[in-house]
Amino acid sequence: MSANPFWLFGYGSLIWKPDLPYSDRVPARLRGWSRRFWQGSHDHRGLPDAPGRVVTLVESAPDCCCDGIAYRVPADAAAAVLAGLDHREKNGYERHRVNLATRNGDAIEALIYVAAPGNFAWLGPAPLAAIAAQIAGAHGPSGSNREYLQRLAESLRLLDSDDDHVFALEALLSSDRT
Ligand code: BEZ
Repeated sequence: MSANPFWLFGYGSLIWKPDLPYSDRVPARLRGWSRRFWQGSHDHRGLPDAPGRVVTLVESAPDCCCDGIAYRVPADAAAAVLAGLDHREKNGYERHRVNLATRNGDAIEALIYVAAPGNFAWLGPAPLAAIAAQIAGAHGPSGSNREYLQRLAESLRLLDSDDDHVFALEALLSSDRT
């Protein structure tokens, strides 16, 4: 396990709830990947027999991008942070290494967790209304799936980031108060 400092890119709940020690935090952009609510959550925002939906990244056209936050994890915390994330994200996510760009144009190499198509918790694409309905009805040990979506949308607004997929789902959820 690495004892070197590293950058970690958060594009989901890590944006608003990093729960990890970091020495630096910068808004960053990952090009060529898009954020999608295509991964099942049986352990955080849903239950084994009623999964919620959480975000993963899918490879997209080079001009597509995903905005998030990059955290610099210091060397003395690196091994414990990786072990904790590997455990927390055991529901189908794997680590990848990617290149990010910060807003002032710096390049950063970072780790990301991605749930690839076909993993055991993969739900994949569906009509937005169906995804919204599933999110509206799902709850798990970490809270409601609706709250996850709302906090993600709020965080992206604070970053001044446009994400059609997330904001369209938020709009559908806010018109449905079930
Ligand atoms: C995140 O960025 O919050 C995240 C998303 C998927 C797996 C791990 C972390």
